[in-house]
Amino acid sequence: MSRETFEYHWGKHHRTYVENLNKQISGTELDGMPLEDIIIATYNKGDILPAFNNAAQAWNHEFFWDSMKPGGGGKPSGDLLDMIERDFGSFEKFAEEFKSTAATQFGSGWAWLAYKANRLDVDNAVNPLASEKDKRLVIVKSPNAVNPLVWDYFPLLTIDVWEHAYYLDFQNRRPDYISTFMEKLVSWDAVSLRLEKAKALAAEREEEEQRKKKEEEEEKLSEGDNVEMYLDSDSDDSEAD
Ligand SMILES: [Fe+2]
Repeated sequence: MSRETFEYHWGKHHRTYVENLNKQISGTELDGMPLEDIIIATYNKGDILPAFNNAAQAWNHEFFWDSMKPGGGGKPSGDLLDMIERDFGSFEKFAEEFKSTAATQFGSGWAWLAYKANRLDVDNAVNPLASEKDKRLVIVKSPNAVNPLVWDYFPLLTIDVWEHAYYLDFQNRRPDYISTFMEKLVSWDAVSLRLEKAKALAAEREEEEQRKKKEEEEEKLSEGDNVEMYLDSDSDDSEAD
């Protein structure tokens, strides 16, 4: 990836998304909200609101830059590699699927590796892999500015496959750009760190849900006790009469 590509892609395209978003939300209720919350609110169950594209593109690009490092590529290790091997068969099979997903996103968009901790449809969107098991790694593609946050997935790695990402260096050869990204640029350290955070957050969320469930059950039980006490005292009264 050349200096010229970075100057255009980061210096002009990414900057424009950020500047346009700031103009769009200035003085609105979105102003001051975390970027992730703006994305989810403006996705609006797929019927997107005006700020969505700029908000998601601002987030996606930041995430994309942090997915790379000079001298990257190679193979991941540790827990990330174990999960890739468990969920895709081998690192080679994963790399093949990731590349072909990125190559076959029709038109502008993104390809993602994500941690899917949620099997059910979420409030915000129809889960594209609802029937797949949860707590696993998945590869997904998304059109235009859409990202896996809207499906309640944890994004771990992304590649920008908008033409502006590769045209200066590779012209129409998107697969060559994708191979260069995978072989020389991916920061597996960044992906590993994101996976650890995603798993910790998902576990926290699960604990919280179980705690709430238990509380609700206990509340129901104690409500049952109250009814009984009331009935008992009621019958005592009638006896006294
Ligand atoms: Fe881009």
